[in-house]
Amino acid sequence: MTEQIYLVGGAVRDQLLGIEVKDKDWVVVGSSPDKMLAQGFQAVGKDFPVFLHPSTHEEYALARTERKTAPGYKGFQFHAAEDVTLEQDLQRRDLTINAIAQTEDGTLIDPYNGQQDIKDKILRHVSPAFAEDPVRVLRIARFAARFDFTIADETQALIKQMIESGELEYLVAERVWQELDKALGADKPSRFFTSLRESGALKALFPEVDRLFGVPQPEKWHPEIDTGVHVMLVIDQAAKLTQDKIVRFAALCHDLGKGTTPADTLPRHIGHEARSIDLTKALCKRIKAPKEYQEMAVLIAEYHTHVHLLFELKANTILKVLNAFDAFRRPERFQQFLLTGEADSRGRPGYETSAIPELAAFQQCRDTAAKITAQPFVEAGLVGPAISEAMQKQRIIEIKKRQSDWKKTNSS
Ligand code: CTP
Repeated sequence: MTEQIYLVGGAVRDQLLGIEVKDKDWVVVGSSPDKMLAQGFQAVGKDFPVFLHPSTHEEYALARTERKTAPGYKGFQFHAAEDVTLEQDLQRRDLTINAIAQTEDGTLIDPYNGQQDIKDKILRHVSPAFAEDPVRVLRIARFAARFDFTIADETQALIKQMIESGELEYLVAERVWQELDKALGADKPSRFFTSLRESGALKALFPEVDRLFGVPQPEKWHPEIDTGVHVMLVIDQAAKLTQDKIVRFAALCHDLGKGTTPADTLPRHIGHEARSIDLTKALCKRIKAPKEYQEMAVLIAEYHTHVHLLFELKANTILKVLNAFDAFRRPERFQQFLLTGEADSRGRPGYETSAIPELAAFQQCRDTAAKITAQPFVEAGLVGPAISEAMQKQRIIEIKKRQSDWKKTNSS
């Protein structure tokens, strides 16, 4: 059999969707590890039939079939041999839109009608083999979010079966985080969560987010009432405001504590910030979220209400918030705080474009307090902790000046 090489997977899909192609994956039919190595390809891992091209370093995988012999990832067996056909290789893939191959002259080979599903904006599994890899439940929600596609009924039914059989318990933290992180990059990340919710996967994977749906908030401040709906609006507003996925993740976590508010105190959520902190920490630990995501999400869980309450805060509380975010040395962290606050405010129907005077006012506090440096106090002979104490006092004085300016503007 002569060797044939095809472009496959995301590259063909993205090209058909008219979006930028990032990674190119190739499948090689009619070859063997020895032949690949003889052509200068480098093996990726010892036993896996994937190779890197000697000059482009793109991935070339030998056509393979796969079979699961036990639950989870341990019992995954593959068969990569010269007699495996392109159709067989495409059949083991997750979705029809990801199972289209392209020859070097541009001809498309599409045995599972992926092009039709792209036209119809449908995510459909190729074969029952879909169920062999639980990460696909997350991938499909991520594609639903990224492309605004819907999931075929038969695929949704299969996903439900996978959840019922406990397949998602085999997902490892790294893969959950990887998919969540990619989903946060979508224009409307809420679609990822609503898609997971429809199949029941949200409850299985992110119960602290699932629990927010159906929890009421006071209508006066939250016309949407439902906390889950609010958080979805906030995460989409965050995505509109910034590409920064740390902000988007913090938006997801900020109100988690509202999911565990005692029923007899609803629709108020007294002390939800402290519960948000605990739930955010537990979530981050479980899915192994990177440290910088966790740090910011925890800070924002604690302080997000301070943006809305700024005009009622004492000067020393304002300074405490600024210090918590290390706003003088790391102004970018303060921006992340303000952006999440903005998304939180705009994530309510009717408030999407409202003025939020607190944002500029908080920025003013930070900027004026930042002008207070250690130098004059050192020159005046202060030493050790006395310098920092004097700086804090002076910063509070400056913030109080801003507060009296606000009062004057309000009364004039
Ligand atoms: N694939 C699969 N099941 C998975 C992962 C990947 O069937 N769990 C197949 C799909 O055919 C996919 C291809 O391998 O298109 C390449 O996978 P990957 O590079 O991880 O994803 P892409 O589909 O290229 O998507 P993205 O653009 O998000 O990376």
